[in-house]
Amino acid sequence: MEQKLRIGVVGLGMGSIHLKGYQSNPHAEVAAICDVNEERLRACAQEFNIEQTFTDANEMFRKAGLDAVSIATPNKFHAPLTITALKAGLHVLCEKPMAMNTKEAERMNEAAKKARKNLMINFSFRFSEMSFALKQQVDAGVIGDIYYGRTVWHRRRGIPGFGGWFTNKELAGGGPLIDLGVHRLDLALWLMGYPEPVVVSGSAYNVIAKEKAAQDDKAYTVEDLACGLIKFKNGATLILEASWMLNIDEDEKMITMLCGTKGGLVQKNIGGGYDFVGEVYTEEGGHLFTKRLDRSMVPVPSPYQEFVDSILEKRQPLATGEQGIKVMKILDGIYKSAELGREVRYRQ
Ligand SMILES: NC(=O)c1ccc[n+]([C@@H]2O[C@H](COP(=O)([O-])OP(=O)(O)OC[C@H]3O[C@@H](n4cnc5c(N)ncnc54)[C@H](O)[C@@H]3O)[C@@H](O)[C@H]2O)c1
Repeated sequence: MEQKLRIGVVGLGMGSIHLKGYQSNPHAEVAAICDVNEERLRACAQEFNIEQTFTDANEMFRKAGLDAVSIATPNKFHAPLTITALKAGLHVLCEKPMAMNTKEAERMNEAAKKARKNLMINFSFRFSEMSFALKQQVDAGVIGDIYYGRTVWHRRRGIPGFGGWFTNKELAGGGPLIDLGVHRLDLALWLMGYPEPVVVSGSAYNVIAKEKAAQDDKAYTVEDLACGLIKFKNGATLILEASWMLNIDEDEKMITMLCGTKGGLVQKNIGGGYDFVGEVYTEEGGHLFTKRLDRSMVPVPSPYQEFVDSILEKRQPLATGEQGIKVMKILDGIYKSAELGREVRYRQ
């Protein structure tokens, strides 16, 4: 019988989605799970029929006989757990944001190179029909050279775990920018070919959440809105915006708009939900065309399938540590620029 990859999962909130992804893959099995919350650990083991359970991730890395692991804990633990897992000889799929900051992300990537193991970042919004369909249009040259874009995720009111780790800077590293903005930034950068940032100007606010936190007596030490303007070495400019609480028209608004020399594209959510439409705008023979995209022309793997395939095929995964570092650099730059009140230039 063909051997299956033995995979462990650390952190069983979002981690349970990873778990389901692996369990539905004929080339993988979930051999062990880990959570510091024993009740969650027990419930998950029972629901998914998993024998080996651990409350200490490092012990699981050493003892469970694994090939690979998913890290889906609060952000603060991404770097230390990823590095220990890589040192233990395991491939790692780490949740977004890759880390708390660029320095940590660079250390993770170094550890992967040293261990000669795969490190993939779960930029899950790339792995959809609509994202792949748009990427095909870009790769086919329909958009031309992208020189301007805007990528946005706003919620009118939508703080995850208000008062918990998501809203604690020490555990999360930041607020909606690092939580939601990270997805829209990755999608835009991926479609743009991951250009090199040279300068960033950002602003961050804590206005509506601050008032709500005081009213409800909750801890809230991150921004509720951040935005930034990023200029790249190839001359392109991108605007990024993310918020958990903003006075806008929709409950949840996601849009990525990219404009190129030959055409433009938009991916946006429908009716405040998690379904997306994609459109491409071109001009031919003096006529303007709007094309609505149906679906990708190639099969779209889930991130969990892509992680497994990349290991079995001995190749880099689609969402790499290098890309994760570039994302962290931009997020760090926006936070730093907001703090300093001036633009931040990257050393080239
Ligand atoms: N890719 C996506 O679309 C997506 C969606 C949701 C969350 N996430 C990411 O997943 C991560 C987890 O988010 P969540 O919503 O599942 O949070 P959560 O709080 O629901 O779950 C985190 C779990 O990790 C456990 N945990 C904490 N420290 C641990 C440790 N040291 N070892 C083992 N377990 C530990 C907690 O007990 C908890 O059960 C975050 O980085 C978040 O940004 C990604």
